[in-house]
Amino acid sequence: MTDATAPEHRPHETPAHIDEAAGYDTVLVLDFGAQYGQLIARRVRECHVYSQLIPFDAPLDEIRARRPRGLILSGGPMSVYVDDAPRPDPALFDLGVPVLGICYGAQLMALELGGTVTRTGASEFGKTRLCVAEHGTMLAGLDDTEQCWMSHRDCITAPPDGFVTLARSDGAPIAAMEDRARGLFAVQFHPEVVHTPRGMDVLGNFLYQACGCGPTWTPASIIEEQVARIRAQVGPHDRAVLGLSGGVDSTVAAVLVHKAIGDRLVCVFIDQGMMRESEAEHVVEMFTEHLKIPLIAVDARRRFLDRLVGVTDPERKRKIIGEEFIRCFEEESRKLTDAKFLVQGTLYSDVIESGTRQAAKIKSHHNVGGLPEKMGFELVEPLRLLFKDEVRAVGEQLGLPERIVWRQPFPGPGLGIRIIGEVTAERVDILQRADAILQEEVKNAGLYRELWQCFAILPVIRSVGVQGDERTYAYPIAIRAVRSDDAMTADWARLPYELLETVSSRIINEVPEVNRVVYDVSSKPPSTIEWE
Ligand code: XMP
Repeated sequence: MTDATAPEHRPHETPAHIDEAAGYDTVLVLDFGAQYGQLIARRVRECHVYSQLIPFDAPLDEIRARRPRGLILSGGPMSVYVDDAPRPDPALFDLGVPVLGICYGAQLMALELGGTVTRTGASEFGKTRLCVAEHGTMLAGLDDTEQCWMSHRDCITAPPDGFVTLARSDGAPIAAMEDRARGLFAVQFHPEVVHTPRGMDVLGNFLYQACGCGPTWTPASIIEEQVARIRAQVGPHDRAVLGLSGGVDSTVAAVLVHKAIGDRLVCVFIDQGMMRESEAEHVVEMFTEHLKIPLIAVDARRRFLDRLVGVTDPERKRKIIGEEFIRCFEEESRKLTDAKFLVQGTLYSDVIESGTRQAAKIKSHHNVGGLPEKMGFELVEPLRLLFKDEVRAVGEQLGLPERIVWRQPFPGPGLGIRIIGEVTAERVDILQRADAILQEEVKNAGLYRELWQCFAILPVIRSVGVQGDERTYAYPIAIRAVRSDDAMTADWARLPYELLETVSSRIINEVPEVNRVVYDVSSKPPSTIEWE
């Protein structure tokens, strides 16, 4: 894939991660810096085959140790002819494990095995017609002409010995090729993106026909496997503690661990007074009435607000909220003297993204609302293998209500970073009421699940308005709604005007402290999703 992502942002996993998924047929994606590396792994998993992303130069021994059923070489931003182009160990092709090369990965395969890759000078980018001459294993079931997504400059012009050319496009004389006997497959196009409508069939052919994988990666099997692992880790007598936020990750983690060790799990929920409207009550009710998981609910509202008096700087706010959260949690968990384990809802994307440089610099967020590792607990991380959509699928399988499973992400410091200026109880209350109207209307419009996040912001300024012939001087509310896959980038959502109108008029009519509603039309970058 020709893009600006340099391969130095390679994901990295600890060796300890290797056998966490030993029970599953596994396909490893070797990441050459592709924009869509994670997406390939997600698509493989959508085919119910477990997949992990590893650096392109992972040692062969490590690859062997994972006993993969197949390997996928991702795309990458470079030309194979550039001096420092990332190259895999050529012995990779002799492991006896089927290999699929995608885009840059396809070209590497061609080059390493004696084919020709030509710098044509021209590029092929976007939706492209794929002409299938032979279906072979990989294109089985496809029509003779299909749409595919291309993004390349160089192209394969002669296949290595033993390969059959399966398809071409206008800009790629060899758009797909395979050597069935050696289990080597290559596509110049991107089967993982939605603009290749039959891409999942191509991946499925590779996974099921070429690699012989079974569809073993399912929510039910994930639950079974994780419950067994948690039991093995925590043992029959120890206790665990979990910091509950009320979001989907910590809730799913709690239910999984509770399933494994029962009431030896205790959840601690700290109400810092900056949750969405009624959320704290909902969390307590759900855990005590429905899930019946032991919960210590701490009303820390006063405590947090007191510490925020006079604070307007976003970073100080975040720091104070984060520190106070840890302090509260420590006080509570200390009371559970014999808890040895701390459950955290770390996701697979956190595991592979940790170490990217950008995250920490712009905002201190990823430490806020989290707990330091040096609290002396041993960590239990039952979601460590899962992408967010898989956590949701597991949540559904566990029977959690839609309200929890599909909850949009909510930042640790909560409404504290959506009040732009000093946080006071009155402002939290205003923002909660405005936000609740927005949530309700977006849900009514059927758009809630489509959006990564939608929320209200209260900038602490006032402007003049007129209501019922009277001058008003009140707060504005800003509405933010974004689409995103991973929060690294985000696009402002084109919400229908009618919806914005309803939200605006309801907020102004129902929240007397507000006389103006504005819509944030900025994307990330250059803006961020949250305002602070
Ligand atoms: P930004 O504002 O950096 O946010 O574009 C990206 C995503 O991260 C969420 N976010 C947080 N999540 N603790 C969290 O758990 C935090 O302190 C925090 N700050 C931002 C934000 O809501 C968005 O989804």
